[in-house]
Amino acid sequence: MAEISTAAFRQICYLTGADVCYTEMISAKGVMFGNKKTIKMAQVLPEEPKTFVQMFGSEPDDIAGAIERVEAVNPAAYGFDINMGCPMKKVLKGRNGAFLMTDPEKVRRIVRAARAATKKPLSVKIRKGYQQENGLEIAAIIEEEGADLLVIHPRLKTQMFLPGTCDHDFSIRLAAERHIPVIHSGDITESAHLERFAGTKIAGFMIGRGTYGRPWIFEELRSGLPIADERKRELMTLHFRAIRLYSIGISLRTMMNELKKNAVWYSRGGAGSTEFRNHIYQTKWEERELLGTINRFFEIDI
Ligand SMILES: Cc1cc2nc3c(=O)[nH]c(=O)nc-3n(C[C@H](O)[C@H](O)[C@H](O)COP(=O)(O)O)c2cc1C
Repeated sequence: MAEISTAAFRQICYLTGADVCYTEMISAKGVMFGNKKTIKMAQVLPEEPKTFVQMFGSEPDDIAGAIERVEAVNPAAYGFDINMGCPMKKVLKGRNGAFLMTDPEKVRRIVRAARAATKKPLSVKIRKGYQQENGLEIAAIIEEEGADLLVIHPRLKTQMFLPGTCDHDFSIRLAAERHIPVIHSGDITESAHLERFAGTKIAGFMIGRGTYGRPWIFEELRSGLPIADERKRELMTLHFRAIRLYSIGISLRTMMNELKKNAVWYSRGGAGSTEFRNHIYQTKWEERELLGTINRFFEIDI
């Protein structure tokens, strides 16, 4: 997720029990143009066990070329993912993301080109459809072209992320029909949400918004219990420190924005969180002051 699933964030997700992570989504064209920021966003650290580099693109040659380039400079990438689910206007405008679901033959050519470009695991993320449901047809093509993993967010593009529209049964049906492992993505935030998938062929779960300010969700889902405050503070500390550690090569502003965003998420629901959020966003910070403010609020030492 853009500006969220950074290397620092992924490190905490792995620590709390995630099996697999995905990088921020990068533009295949950006890679082909040699855009340094794009390539940096896709950087996977050697200690990351299974991180897929996620790309969007509309042309098979761009996707294949970008996979080859990223693989060459980023050997720690575990695999590659092609995004065919993003509903945001700026992505759709270039005929990328969920727009690809309107063109099954293009999907075929893209997956075929990507498959030929790498021997590493290949994942594709789709939606239930664009305006109409065609996810089953698209999934069959993706499987035929040799992808290893399919992630389904079972909403139409037109449903964006609207509450109440996530069609869990569609994911279950898709997994039953296909041989390729199918990962369900959508509205999983507590153990009870996993129960309806018991006994189905769903191979795993991808968690998006449920990780905001709660990267320990993996630990909580595995144990079925909320984690202790002391452990939260420990993980927050590691997360903030990792944001600073991995900031080499990115601007101070970007790094501070990542600190602020996560600090505000972590503060949600706690005493004084509204004042803290306003203060964090309304003040022009020096790095040291910002760190001090975060330390005092959470009683940590970053
Ligand atoms: C702000 C935001 C950014 C997202 N960015 C991406 C992305 O870069 N790549 C992707 O595959 N999905 C992205 N998604 C979709 C999520 O991966 C996920 O499929 C969707 O939010 C449903 O799962 P959730 O209910 O667990 O969030 C994004 C969603 C949101 C809300």
